[in-house]
Amino acid sequence: MEHAKLCFALCSRFTGSSLGPTSLDMDGFALGRNLANVAAAAVREGCVGETLAAALAQAQLAVAGDVECRRVLEIIARDEAEHSLLAWRFVQWALQSGQAGVREAVSSAFREVRCRPLRAVARTSAPRVWNHFGRLTSDQERDVVREAWAVVIEPALAALLDSAGGTSEASHVRASVPSPRKPSRRGRCPGSPNIDSTG
Ligand SMILES: [Fe+2]
Repeated sequence: MEHAKLCFALCSRFTGSSLGPTSLDMDGFALGRNLANVAAAAVREGCVGETLAAALAQAQLAVAGDVECRRVLEIIARDEAEHSLLAWRFVQWALQSGQAGVREAVSSAFREVRCRPLRAVARTSAPRVWNHFGRLTSDQERDVVREAWAVVIEPALAALLDSAGGTSEASHVRASVPSPRKPSRRGRCPGSPNIDSTG
């Protein structure tokens, strides 16, 4: 909620008019009661989504020069990292619970989200201006996402599965997750990691 307020404040500044949210549509939203399903959702939205959100916010902060944008990005990067950590801890707990179907759901969710296409990023003819105000170009976003998968998500996934037992399965999952730097030639997964990071 705080992130939304901060971002609307920036939007209001750039547009010169007061902008804010409307009512939130909660149709179709329901908390799952099955631990396997909840763990899979935590993988998609937390372990991956929040981790990428944190990495992107940190990269945006690194290139931003505008004082107000930097202040907002510092808050977002810190908060997203905390959200990500919470998700990884929850999934670890879910795996260690030993409940039926959790390992399979977690592994499947990682493979699924890894193969989603890249988020569309508007192109700009003024990348320096975008960077100054905390925006990344599409190439910069792609690099950040690949780095986050290679350096954070895949190693953390491996450690998570290993710590919960079943080393052979962990190896299988790692092998089945396409490398972000070596796209699949068979087209099963185009090698474009998901960066749909709503945070
Ligand atoms: Fe978040």
